[in-house]
Amino acid sequence: MHILEVRDLVVGVEGKTILSGVNLILEEKESYIMFGPNGSGKSTLINTIMGIKPYEVSSGNIVFMGEDITNKSVDERAKLGISLGFQYPPEITGIKLSDLLKICLDKDLKTDFNQEEKSLIEAFRLSNFLERNINVGFSGGERKRAELLQMIFLKPKLLLLDEPDSGVDVESLKLIASEIQKYIENSGSSTFIVTHKGDILDYIKSKHACILLDSKIHCFPEPRHIYELIKKKGYDECVSCQEKIIERWNNV
Ligand SMILES: Nc1ncnc2c1ncn2[C@@H]1O[C@H](COP(=O)(O)OP(=O)(O)O)[C@@H](O)[C@H]1O
Ligand SMILES: [Mg+2]
Repeated sequence: MHILEVRDLVVGVEGKTILSGVNLILEEKESYIMFGPNGSGKSTLINTIMGIKPYEVSSGNIVFMGEDITNKSVDERAKLGISLGFQYPPEITGIKLSDLLKICLDKDLKTDFNQEEKSLIEAFRLSNFLERNINVGFSGGERKRAELLQMIFLKPKLLLLDEPDSGVDVESLKLIASEIQKYIENSGSSTFIVTHKGDILDYIKSKHACILLDSKIHCFPEPRHIYELIKKKGYDECVSCQEKIIERWNNV
């Protein structure tokens, strides 16, 4: 069964169409990478899959594990097993990181973390952040580390990650990307990752990538090859050049 199917999805905001007929299939236990220039609609797509406002679906469907979720609320989608890591994780005052992590674990707030949970908090280098308000005064990398740990504690079947590598230093990138790969391998879940950088591919095993350009998805194999082509030729040329490769590929 496909874990996620996006069919002919048309999405707009404030009367402006941003995505005009996006199709996407994500298999189980797969890491799928999406590239695309700024403003092409990557965050719009990822937010729409999660059901976040103000993005409005005017036609098409989103199917998660065989169930049409197009009209479901964010919390219903989260309960079904979808989790979103924001491009810019927001600051939330009034709640400590340790409390949010316990909520993610479905744990009583008075109960301490067990040894395994403590080890993971340590591995994410977050032990000194537990008493702090969520993301308040956190650096880019600290926010992304804290958010990924929240997601992993939720045990989602699908992780939607919007630029998990942006604003992140080299060491945090290695940590974040390795932990994503570990989670995918251990849980059998899938991930859909938006990125601008190829470095994440040093740690995340992925066979499939796509480019979002002109509000359409262009899907291809071999993420690393695509990344090199984008760097050399730019998005437009890469898309037209790759389409020829795809035609050949399909005719084999
Ligand atoms: N809430 C919004 N209101 C108005 N326009 C928006 C909103 N969100 C996104 N857009 C517009 O939609 C387009 C795609 O944005 P976005 O999905 O953030 O692109 P990307 O993540 O690929 O950089 C941009 O032109 C952006 O200005
Ligand atoms: Mg974005």
